[in-house]
Amino acid sequence: MTRLNNSPIGFFDSGVGGVTVFEQVKKLLPDENYIYFGDTKNMPYGEKTETQLLEFADRIFKFLENQNAKAVIMACNTTSAVVYEKLKNNYDFEIYPIIQSVAKEIAKLPLKKIGVFATHATINTHCYKTEIQRYNPDMEVFEIACPGWVKIVENGEEQTNDAINAVMEKMDEMKKYNPEKIILGCTHYPYLLDILTQFAERESFINPSIEFAKIIKQDLKTKGLLNTTGGNSFEKFYVSKSPENFKKAASMFYQINEMPELVDF
Ligand code: DGL
Repeated sequence: MTRLNNSPIGFFDSGVGGVTVFEQVKKLLPDENYIYFGDTKNMPYGEKTETQLLEFADRIFKFLENQNAKAVIMACNTTSAVVYEKLKNNYDFEIYPIIQSVAKEIAKLPLKKIGVFATHATINTHCYKTEIQRYNPDMEVFEIACPGWVKIVENGEEQTNDAINAVMEKMDEMKKYNPEKIILGCTHYPYLLDILTQFAERESFINPSIEFAKIIKQDLKTKGLLNTTGGNSFEKFYVSKSPENFKKAASMFYQINEMPELVDF
């Protein structure tokens, strides 16, 4: 299939996490066409094996390939950490993995100690540590897995005591390392910022999506892939389970107008 400048940009995540990236990219590139896939049936990805994640990601890449995507944004730290290197040459579009894309910018920050909150699967790869230290070997990186946080967000339970306790436990653990900043290394975690900021200042947290969106825009521009036709842009959301739930949970970051379409493959 011929990919044109007005072909859509694909996004994927296990659920609503990637919407934190989508919202930023859409703000910078309002004239693009977008397709978003949330694999809600298979979330949380952070508790899955490499074999499972390879299978999920390959299916989603193929789905987006069939939709003629010109680029695919891995708005998911877990698949960026676990499967990107293995799948990156298999498809006919640009692929943007979140961790590998933002690490260089994070490594430039004038910091000596940085913390990372991420899923089990991401932490097990030490992808943040490896990628940051590739550019800045002197930056110490402390990684902590936060199982349970993704489900809290998908269920829209950010205001519950369970959510506060889950966050408090991990903030206590992180404070022992005394990092200067903490990376929210899972795209679901910005949904928990109201709670996180009860334990540390807003400026202590890095939401990589903001830098990621700028990098994507610049790269698409450099490669001559931006949509220059203007007007009539579309956005379409697909999920593998519970469209209503997805629409509601996502609304903290982005108001989706149409009900997401249920697809199962
Ligand atoms: N939001 C994804 C990430 O950034 C996946 C989280 C999950 O499903 O466990 O890692």
